[in-house]
Amino acid sequence: MPTIALINQKGGVGKTTSTINLGAGLAMLGKAVLLVDLDPQAHLTYGLGIAAHELECTIYEVLKGEATSAEAILRRNGVDVLPASLSLSGAEMEFSGVAGREFLLKEALLGSEQYDYVLLDCPPSLGLLTLNALTAAQEVYIPLQTEFLALQGMSKLIDTINVVKKRLNPGLIVSGIIGTRFDARKNLSREVVAKIEEHFTDKLFKTLIHDNVALAEAPSFGQTIFEYRPDCRGARDYLDLSREAVARR
Ligand SMILES: Nc1ncnc2c1ncn2[C@@H]1O[C@H](COP(=O)(O)OP(=O)(O)O)[C@@H](O)[C@H]1O
Ligand SMILES: [Mg+2]
Repeated sequence: MPTIALINQKGGVGKTTSTINLGAGLAMLGKAVLLVDLDPQAHLTYGLGIAAHELECTIYEVLKGEATSAEAILRRNGVDVLPASLSLSGAEMEFSGVAGREFLLKEALLGSEQYDYVLLDCPPSLGLLTLNALTAAQEVYIPLQTEFLALQGMSKLIDTINVVKKRLNPGLIVSGIIGTRFDARKNLSREVVAKIEEHFTDKLFKTLIHDNVALAEAPSFGQTIFEYRPDCRGARDYLDLSREAVARR
């Protein structure tokens, strides 16, 4: 069961969009997928059409030890979802004094062996929730927007990953970089892709996720791209990315 954390402390780079649609793509390829929403903004949860009233318990109660992940998981659009809500926003503070605070998610996911893939959608910070994701994961995918300043903040992110590797999770690897919001018409987009390749060599997925308005619209209908516009560029890109992710194993 590979557990993969989608991480970038920058907001708006496509973490949530990629978690949802890579997850849905992997499910279309016959994989059993669990998506975990670790962002107090709960964009993944709401983007999959899960309403607040359906949320009896969430990742917050699970991390707190008040519910099991099996109790909190909802089945959605062919994937399982461990949802979040705004209640998670107090978690960083609340858990900061707890012994073993970096291992709460890892413990909560013990017993999820039925999944082929567990994808962790991280908040836009390098705080305790992201540290929990890095501790629970075997692999990291970094979504990078193929725009100005794409690589800004990367050394801080890589430092954090290396510290977690050293102290908490020796087997952790950065196994994929996802180039998002690519616009082939823009020189800048192509230049940034070249820069990412230079920096990360073969880690960059060959499949680039193009800028595609349907990808931004789908969550407001509570749908994955494959439900909302199965024939659009975004659906093709995320299915190609899913195939590439499977082929890399
Ligand atoms: N390939 C894309 N094309 C067009 N819009 C996109 C694309 N990827 C993401 N978006 C939009 O950009 C915004 C930020 O994406 P999101 O996945 O929420 O980023 P993050 O989770 O990193 O903050 C959202 O409004 C999303 O719908
Ligand atoms: Mg997000």
